[in-house]
Amino acid sequence: MLKVINVVGARPNFMKVAPIVAAMRQRVDEFAPLVVHTGQHYDAAMSDAFFRDLGLPQPDVYLNVGSGSHAAQTAVVMQRFEPVVMEEKPDWVLVVGDVNSTLACALVSAKLHIKIAHVEAGLRSRDRNMPEEINRLLTDQISDLLLTPSMDANENLRAEGIAETRIRFVGNVTIDSLLAHLTRAANSIIREDLGVAGKPYAVLTLHRPSNVDEQATFARILDALEDISQSVPIIFPVHPRTRARLNEYHFAERIERNENLRLIEPLGYLDFLRLYSGASLVLTDSGGLQEETTALGVPCLTLRENTERPVTVTMGTNIIVGTDTEKIVQAARRSLHSPRNNELRQLAGADATLPPLWDGHTAPRILDALIAASI
Ligand code: UD1
Repeated sequence: MLKVINVVGARPNFMKVAPIVAAMRQRVDEFAPLVVHTGQHYDAAMSDAFFRDLGLPQPDVYLNVGSGSHAAQTAVVMQRFEPVVMEEKPDWVLVVGDVNSTLACALVSAKLHIKIAHVEAGLRSRDRNMPEEINRLLTDQISDLLLTPSMDANENLRAEGIAETRIRFVGNVTIDSLLAHLTRAANSIIREDLGVAGKPYAVLTLHRPSNVDEQATFARILDALEDISQSVPIIFPVHPRTRARLNEYHFAERIERNENLRLIEPLGYLDFLRLYSGASLVLTDSGGLQEETTALGVPCLTLRENTERPVTVTMGTNIIVGTDTEKIVQAARRSLHSPRNNELRQLAGADATLPPLWDGHTAPRILDALIAASI
């Protein structure tokens, strides 16, 4: 029996851990799972809604760390996680993704000689200005089992000198959640609520510090959005960080004057899935959404200079457009004037171009890898 502490902290963690914990709960003879929520994200819209939508059990332990500078947030997670690990003495600590909670909990576990499994290991943007890239590099260095979503990640780890025996290609667990919830999401009435059902619309998400904390960059993106919104309404669920910057830079008034650029509160998992799955175009700086749009064949423009998920470009629907106004506008025009990729994909034969092992069965492979690495 393996006792596993599964760590969640921020919004992009919940959909990765939910299928893993669900699979562990089905294999009761092999796994005793615990869920620890650091509380890095704590709002109802950023956290509670995801537990409800994803059927994630309420956390066994809640660390209530809240917001802070990177150092302060990482330090408080470490201080509060250490006694939990000492008390529970798990066989494994499982961390996912690249948020501050991921690195903080991995570091605590490594110092206590508890084995660490990192889900979504090996992704690299090669941009060390991104806090997530630092979290990825360091978490991978100290993890015992590196569970990768795509083969480029295996190559990255090898190039960093990580032993082959620590690496397992298991596929993308985000897609497990996506496929498991498509049917339930179809019951969401978010498109009707927003008045876009059956009509063309775009969806936007934006929260990277490099985009929203830099006023000039944010302004360039906003110029592009105003142009695109003349062709198609843009629905924009606004992350709390972005909301704060919009107010600080006095962009909110400018947006309010444009009824085709519609700011809404962050959505839960099912409503958001329903919304972007019907979009003509997604514009984003999120990592997870690049993958989810690829899985569903929805065209995606990534408003960054790089991606740690190159397979979404080579095999998927993602285009890296950066933050230049004209480049964003041109790419959006081209995209809106070509047939939707999922229609093309249906013509070509279903799922023909999905990346390998993005099949909805990654969680059981993660469990098998944990068992194999425990012998
Ligand atoms: C974090 C992750 C990022 C991920 C994103 C998804 C790191 C380094 N970054 O960034 O990889 O893509 O989550 O959302 O871990 N806030 C609230 N309510 C909340 C959470 C945050 O109001 O529930 C506000 C706070 O003012 C906070 C700010 O949002 O200062 C940013 O939150 P933080 O957790 O520091 O980073 P994110 O930008 O959300």
